[in-house]
Amino acid sequence: MPADTVISIRDLVKSFDGRAVLSGVNLDVVRGETMVIMGGSGSGKSTLLRLIIGSFPPDRGRIELFGTDVVTAGRETLDGLRRRFGILFQSGALFNSMTLAENVALPIHEHTDLDREIIDIQVKIKLELVGLLDAADKYPSQISGGMKKRAGLARALALDPEILFYDEPSAGLDPVTSAQIDRLIVDMTQKLGVTSVVVTHEMDSAFTIADRMAMFDRGRMLAVETRDWYDRLRKSPEDEAERMSIDERLIRQFLRGDAEGPITQRRDQGALAKALLVDEAVISTPSIVPTRG
Ligand SMILES: Nc1ncnc2c1ncn2[C@@H]1O[C@H](COP(=O)(O)OP(=O)(O)OP(=O)(O)O)[C@@H](O)[C@H]1O
Ligand SMILES: [Mg+2]
Repeated sequence: MPADTVISIRDLVKSFDGRAVLSGVNLDVVRGETMVIMGGSGSGKSTLLRLIIGSFPPDRGRIELFGTDVVTAGRETLDGLRRRFGILFQSGALFNSMTLAENVALPIHEHTDLDREIIDIQVKIKLELVGLLDAADKYPSQISGGMKKRAGLARALALDPEILFYDEPSAGLDPVTSAQIDRLIVDMTQKLGVTSVVVTHEMDSAFTIADRMAMFDRGRMLAVETRDWYDRLRKSPEDEAERMSIDERLIRQFLRGDAEGPITQRRDQGALAKALLVDEAVISTPSIVPTRG
């Protein structure tokens, strides 16, 4: 694994209940870059994040964080690794019985022996970074969705992580708040030099923050390329698209949000196949087999 690679994933396979959710994923993330993970609902994006952070093991494949194999790591090694990354979950996941300041302080209390005063200063710095210093003593129920996301980010930053994972950071936010979150993600990279892995559906957001983008479809990674590559694909004219591979046309449809293209074609064909199977089942049910006198 090259020195500046912080995440390395090889031949990653994961199934739930016998259904493949990730099938043979390869991906490297380089220090300091923002990698955006895209794909339809259920394509395996959150599962990928949870595998990387060691929430559960894959069926097959290798995941290395800072050169350490996550899959075979013992508890102590994993705890050490966990101090080096922060996670902003899809829901924000704050503790409702604690103020924002207490939420941010929690991981510092858990992972360090620092004095109270030092922790207080750390907490203030993190809340200031996300523009929430004034709301330090508020409870999660007293603040808006966008503020919860920012508070979640402050908590993810508590231990000065080298990598930040974001799962849908702008889902459910208004466009302006969503743009503010994008700004914060870019700031974290530029000011603190953190590496970011961001799962998002929001195309504006993806193109604002990404250095590189990885597109997932039904557990398969179709392409990992630069933002410019994706931008060219997004803007390519129809006649050019006709000469593209099926994967490229699929990505193009996703990026443009077109109603017609390989994604919807496949869905329609799937529905048809299902309908035909049902018909077949109906045809072969004994009840409609002609009875003989
Ligand atoms: N713990 C689990 N047990 C069983 N099935 C699971 C589990 N976690 C995820 N899945 C299934 O794996 C598939 C991929 O889920 P995942 O949450 O990774 O998708 P996603 O790409 O993050 O989707 P979304 O954009 O909707 O968040 C889904 O079909 C989901 O139902
Ligand atoms: Mg998800």
